[in-house]
Amino acid sequence: MSRAASHGPNQAVSALSERLGDLLALGDDAFVERGPALLQAAIRDPTFFDGVATDPAPADSYTRRKVVGDPGSHVVRFMEWPPGYSLLPHEHHGRPCFEVLVDGLLVVVDMVAHEAGHDEYELRILDSHVLHPGDAAVVDPRVNDIHAVYSPVRSRSLHVYPDDAAFAVGYCLGDNDRYTRTRFELDRDSSRP
Ligand SMILES: [Fe+2]
Repeated sequence: MSRAASHGPNQAVSALSERLGDLLALGDDAFVERGPALLQAAIRDPTFFDGVATDPAPADSYTRRKVVGDPGSHVVRFMEWPPGYSLLPHEHHGRPCFEVLVDGLLVVVDMVAHEAGHDEYELRILDSHVLHPGDAAVVDPRVNDIHAVYSPVRSRSLHVYPDDAAFAVGYCLGDNDRYTRTRFELDRDSSRP
């Protein structure tokens, strides 16, 4: 059994979580402006990963193991992405979040939706980012709510959310290059997405 599972978060993880909570108390701007640097600095300490691991991702889904986070509070999750995996365009919950790539490579594409009919949307690309290990990306619904993720190789990334939401809203491609919005559930406590 891992140290995290048997004794709770290690000291480095607990310290990070406490500092992230302090940032959130200052507001979402402080959270996204200063949080990524906090996480990047935290994982440069090798003791951060004592008892911290991903669940192995099968070929057809990513995994999202909780690292630290009390119910109703902010949470850090450790994602593993299988090679050649695409996560459909999706949006979060009106609150910003951020991630730091630990290993591998991730492509993140920011998009905006325009209503093109009854529950039909066209997506337009705003920007794209190629994340290498140590790089951070911010998802801020006030700026870039919709994004898709692609992992060309097996990759692992740490994600920080201001709350541990149980669902997300995805955009599924239908006819005529248009998308429909679909709610999908997120597994909060196990290896499944
Ligand atoms: Fe996302």
